Amino acid sequence: MKRRIFILAGLLLMLALVITACQPPAAPPQQAASNELNVLCTPQVEWCEGMKAEFEATHPGITVNWVRMSSGESLTRLRNEKDNPQFDIWWGGPIDSFIAATSEGLLEQYDSPNHANIIDKDLMLDPDNHWAGIYVGSLGFATNTEWLAQNPDAKAPTSWDDLLADQLAGQIMVAHPSSSGTSYTALCTILQLKGEEAGWEYLRKYASQVNQFTKSGAAPARFVGGGEAAVGIVFSHDIVAQIQAGMPLELTFPEEGTGYEIGGEGIIKGAKNLENAKLWYDWALEPSTQELGPKYNAFQAPTVKGATASMPELLDVKLIDYDFDWCGQNKTAFIDRFTNELAGADNLKE
Ligand code: F6P
Repeated sequence: MKRRIFILAGLLLMLALVITACQPPAAPPQQAASNELNVLCTPQVEWCEGMKAEFEATHPGITVNWVRMSSGESLTRLRNEKDNPQFDIWWGGPIDSFIAATSEGLLEQYDSPNHANIIDKDLMLDPDNHWAGIYVGSLGFATNTEWLAQNPDAKAPTSWDDLLADQLAGQIMVAHPSSSGTSYTALCTILQLKGEEAGWEYLRKYASQVNQFTKSGAAPARFVGGGEAAVGIVFSHDIVAQIQAGMPLELTFPEEGTGYEIGGEGIIKGAKNLENAKLWYDWALEPSTQELGPKYNAFQAPTVKGATASMPELLDVKLIDYDFDWCGQNKTAFIDRFTNELAGADNLKE
């Protein structure tokens, strides 16, 4: 009898084990929707700060953390963090760097429904949806009007060759192309306008006219406004922002043609807050979002239908047919050449 009870207990135990083994695995705990978004922001601090506040007002459940970095610095940061990205989305800065980032596998593809809003998809949208254009701006020259008054025989430059005048030796300020997308746009504009051989020869003279290279593209407008040099090469909207802030600056453009940027945005490959990055990406392509710029002293032109440009005259100048793809694909090589042969990037003014 005792033996039968023992056998029965054994059978019941085995049955229990078999039933447990056949149970479907427990469902993983539901992943809570993320409430953070980490933005790598390349435009001016005031606009980055404003966009954080505007996005959080539109999406109250999400906190935006952002860091401002110039284009070249951003690209270096994304390369270094490739295996463990700390940012979810990169917002702003000329698309040359987004094209370089795409070819290095640093950006995620995303087919946003708001791509339909873009004015010129051939120009402003990556054919494989790694980045989209969010603003447009032209390069200009900022000249200190007090310096002009003290130098009556001088005039504000109206051609690239004017920058090489003896009078401007040590009086030019521009960012370094390794850190700044603005400065890289100027470099690539010159190579396109003059051709590569003559362009590099010109760049040698141009680099020797420079008083000091800065880290950020917009900074020379501020320094030239403060009298630290006579002429700065800067995006025209950044010159306008300084004029509006009361700096004694005159804005001019090179008559033979100037380069321009399409500012981009792209989601970082491996973004930890992917859904929120998509929300920001879509939101940045809304006409109402693109009209927010002037509220934060950003006067770039929009890229989407239905948004009104605050200063259309900044694009109503002679623009070159800037080849973004060529400039993007050659970015590393051209910057290495500039840095190694013409001017190092060791002592950049912040
Ligand atoms: O100040 C804004 C801005 O000029 C943008 O229009 C441009 O994309 C960005 O700065 C470039 O910054 P940087 O030259 O520092 O890379």
